[in-house]
Amino acid sequence: MSKKKLAFSGVQPTGNLHLGNYLGALKNFVSLQQEMESIYCVVDLHAITIFQNPKILKNNTLETTSCFLAMGLDPKKSIIFNQSSVSGHAELAWILNCVSRIGWLNRMTQFKDKVGSNKEKASVGLYIYPNLMAADILLYKATHVPVGADQKQHLELSRDIAQKFNKDFNCENFFPLPEPLISKNISRVMSLRDGLKKMSKSEESDYSRINLKDSEDEITKKIKKAKSDSASIPDNLKSLNGKPEALNLLTLYSELSNQTLEKVLAEMSGKEYSFLKKNLTELLIEQICPVGKEINKLMDDKSYLSSILREGSKKAQLIAEDNLKNIREKVGLI
Ligand code: TYM
Repeated sequence: MSKKKLAFSGVQPTGNLHLGNYLGALKNFVSLQQEMESIYCVVDLHAITIFQNPKILKNNTLETTSCFLAMGLDPKKSIIFNQSSVSGHAELAWILNCVSRIGWLNRMTQFKDKVGSNKEKASVGLYIYPNLMAADILLYKATHVPVGADQKQHLELSRDIAQKFNKDFNCENFFPLPEPLISKNISRVMSLRDGLKKMSKSEESDYSRINLKDSEDEITKKIKKAKSDSASIPDNLKSLNGKPEALNLLTLYSELSNQTLEKVLAEMSGKEYSFLKKNLTELLIEQICPVGKEINKLMDDKSYLSSILREGSKKAQLIAEDNLKNIREKVGLI
């Protein structure tokens, strides 16, 4: 079996990429492309598991691509493409639908959270969404998958599916078991309005998140309005128990300033949260605004973005087709 390391990850083109996507996943994509072969995918087939306006979807696919580039992904180092342009994703997803178990999918908390009490009206695609994720990863025999903590359960399912396929078709080690790469310091960026909820593009209030395209003014206002704590900043982590919003702001500052949380507490203890907010705002403006400006600039040249996807698709297609030949053979498809 090849021991070659290969990173794969995906981002849905559903608009408004935010600080959670950036710190939880995209930042890792960029550093990984220096270490191993990397494939990053705009997962448009995942996006349509919830209805998308076709015109907006096209635009969002290009915008997510521009975001990859603005963050520092280099098309010479990483393969960047959109999922629907390589039909092998859908083909392998079907095969894996037949390997994956209903009982496994029934345990997926993200599906339950998304549909709430409206399960009967959810699309079948949304239910089997994690099988398509497994197909994305296994189609390239990826070994490493950089994601935020919210994707951990889906990654575990991908491993279970890989293992069952290897066992059912008597081909030990055929699919490597993909390893999730989840940032230790900041695996889950929380909402600025409710520290118990993750920062998300589907949250109604725009004040709950920092979008990568936010202006300096918007970032300043959002951080000013963010929930914190009326007490001053403590000198130890334990005192932050039960104060998720304060902990979130401190963790964000620690990540963006490249310091441990302990060091941040030592530096800021006794100060008001307004002091932290001022410093955090400065860092966000320094690190996020240039990304936003670059996204806007890239979006002015959509034909360039389309050409990046086309080139990436060609490269992805070659790897996918090669692997699919072997997969079809294992399953007995002529
Ligand atoms: P998506 O598009 O929801 O999010 C993209 C990436 O951002 C991470 N993320 C966060 N990390 C920390 N804090 C947050 N608040 C936060 N919000 C989002 C996500 O964990 C993700 O890594 N199902 C995936 C896309 C996907 C995929 C794949 C990922 C499809 N196929 C194969 C890996 C491998 C998703 O919906 O991500």
